[in-house]
Amino acid sequence: MNVPLFDMTRQYEAMREEILNTLDNIFKSGKVILGPNVKSLEEELAEYTNTKYAIGVANGSDALFLAVKALNIGKGDYVITTPYTFFATASCITRNGARPIFVDVEEKYYNMDLDKVEEILKNHPEKDRIKAIIPVHLFGKTLNLDKLHYLKEKYGIYIIEDGAQSIGSKWNNKNGFSVGDLSITSFFPTKNLGGYGDGGMVFTNNESLANRVRKLRIHGAAKKYYHDEVGFNSRLDEVQAAILRIKLKHLDEYIEKRINIAKNYDEFFKKYELTKVIDYPEVFEDKSHVYHQYVITLKTGNRDELRKFLTEKEIGTSIYYPKGLHQQKCFEYLGYKEGDFPITEKATKTTLALPIFPELTIEEQEFIVKSIKNFFNI
Ligand SMILES: Cc1ncc(COP(=O)(O)O)c(C=O)c1O
Repeated sequence: MNVPLFDMTRQYEAMREEILNTLDNIFKSGKVILGPNVKSLEEELAEYTNTKYAIGVANGSDALFLAVKALNIGKGDYVITTPYTFFATASCITRNGARPIFVDVEEKYYNMDLDKVEEILKNHPEKDRIKAIIPVHLFGKTLNLDKLHYLKEKYGIYIIEDGAQSIGSKWNNKNGFSVGDLSITSFFPTKNLGGYGDGGMVFTNNESLANRVRKLRIHGAAKKYYHDEVGFNSRLDEVQAAILRIKLKHLDEYIEKRINIAKNYDEFFKKYELTKVIDYPEVFEDKSHVYHQYVITLKTGNRDELRKFLTEKEIGTSIYYPKGLHQQKCFEYLGYKEGDFPITEKATKTTLALPIFPELTIEEQEFIVKSIKNFFNI
């Protein structure tokens, strides 16, 4: 049995006709840049996320970059974020000329530890120059939004929620993106709401920030060919927007399926007595985890050998992430060293992402878990 880590072809089969008809209409209309589908997707996603404004941009990395830019964060400023995330969460800070301060994650879901964030806000020697926090709802698990809100109010700092992996997720019935001055998501094909190419979106409840991002995405021009400032070319493609609108109708159903798949994995791990050797994320029914990734942690044994073993059995896996951002060559100048973020560093060696996508079958899941059991010889 061949089980890929992610497979978009199964979903395509189910919506092929609708997608092709929609694309045909777009190509016949000739409106392929910032057309009606981008505008409608922005409105629909603002409604879905319960935010006032949504602005489509070229990808999630640009969404982060433009969010930092819109807050005028730059040279001399500091921004707190996690070292256990995709690169773009930190590069959006340095690309704007500011400096990241990394804070280690917590053990269970690997989200940034907000108690440690508060320590930094209280005690860091440059604490007055800290302008923002960029928390990541990692793997689709929402951070504690109440605590985030408390930090924002108490310390008067901006929040940019990196929800690239977490669209549709909640915290105690509170929507993700409800605390961020700005929040972002990514439509990279593997994401829970994934396009057929790159795409991203910025969300905010603040009208002037929304206008600023909208302007920055078209070369700083609020009016065509009249440039108030130097901006960028970062637009969401009309074709991607049209496909995303078709998929958005199914997003809640996809999330339900992911939660069910996570639940099945948990049950199989118990049934095959693997809980002695691995930890797995606890399942939430309330969408506080939307399982963009299902990531296990090895309590014992060699993660890379397990991965090799599963690859030989034609089971796709991935490592998110093999290095902490503080260990990346390009961030050496920040002066961090090995041992600074022990939970992150341990996670880079012990975690493994298993296949998860809405169309994954229960037979495939059982095969994966049985293969893990074989590896451990239990
Ligand atoms: C946490 C996080 N932030 C930002 C991004 C960047 O998104 P994109 O790939 O659309 O640029 C990603 C996507 O991979 C991500 O996982």
